Amino acid sequence: MIQVEALSKDYKSVRVLQGINWAIEDGAFVIVTGRSGGGKTTLLSIVGGLTRPDAGRVLIDDTDIWQLSEPDLAALRNEKLGFVFQFPSLIPTLSVLDNVLLPIAFGDKSPNLEDLKFATSLLEMVGISGKDGQYPAQLSGGQQRRAAIARAMIKRPAIILADEPTGDLDEKTEAEIMDLFQSINGQGTTIVMVTHALDYAKIGKTYTLKDSHLFPYEDSEASPRDLTRGGELRHDA
Ligand SMILES: Nc1ncnc2c1ncn2[C@@H]1O[C@H](COP(=O)(O)OP(=O)(O)O)[C@@H](O)[C@H]1O
Ligand SMILES: [Mg+2]
Repeated sequence: MIQVEALSKDYKSVRVLQGINWAIEDGAFVIVTGRSGGGKTTLLSIVGGLTRPDAGRVLIDDTDIWQLSEPDLAALRNEKLGFVFQFPSLIPTLSVLDNVLLPIAFGDKSPNLEDLKFATSLLEMVGISGKDGQYPAQLSGGQQRRAAIARAMIKRPAIILADEPTGDLDEKTEAEIMDLFQSINGQGTTIVMVTHALDYAKIGKTYTLKDSHLFPYEDSEASPRDLTRGGELRHDA
């Protein structure tokens, strides 16, 4: 379970997030949309323990992650979270298989035979078995994305955070990658995804980040004032 409480973040004089409250249940598929520059990446990276908020808390399974020491936070990220960034960010000098195994190497042990078998099965699951010995540059954009998704799954994270994972892909490949995320979610992994692919908004609970606040998508055309009830601002769902 992820709980976000009164989260705020400014960059210099720019207010990016203000007083965001948000709860994400285990096993949910949650989508965040909103205009470019609206703070979606910032929100995802604060939730993922990569960017420190100015105020507020992020609880992951009741751990207040921004109270942890840097090594403990790194360990939590490595154990509980998988990241799929906006660009596949594979290491060009490593084979696809070694890229997938990289989070293991960042942990406290070297990959063993079981890890190797699991990485191979993940490559099969994401549809690029046979590419394990190739290098990222030899893969198409969609295949690179699949490898990045396999890498995000190698530590069997409870949660995958994905930032516009299909932004640079053609429609057909986008549909395939979204199917893949749905099947990963179907196996119990919580997915928090930033996307403009609103055709897919129906697959999960969708929010819009607008004017530094998070709204349920249905209300996204409303202004913050419209959500005021009895003098209390409702920023959460
Ligand atoms: N590291 C940073 N330093 C300064 N400003 C930043 C930084 N990261 C993001 N911003 C600013 O914060 C705002 C939100 O950015 P971002 O979270 O990337 O939005 P989105 O992902 O919705 O496009 C933008 O105005 C952006 O320029
Ligand atoms: Mg972004």
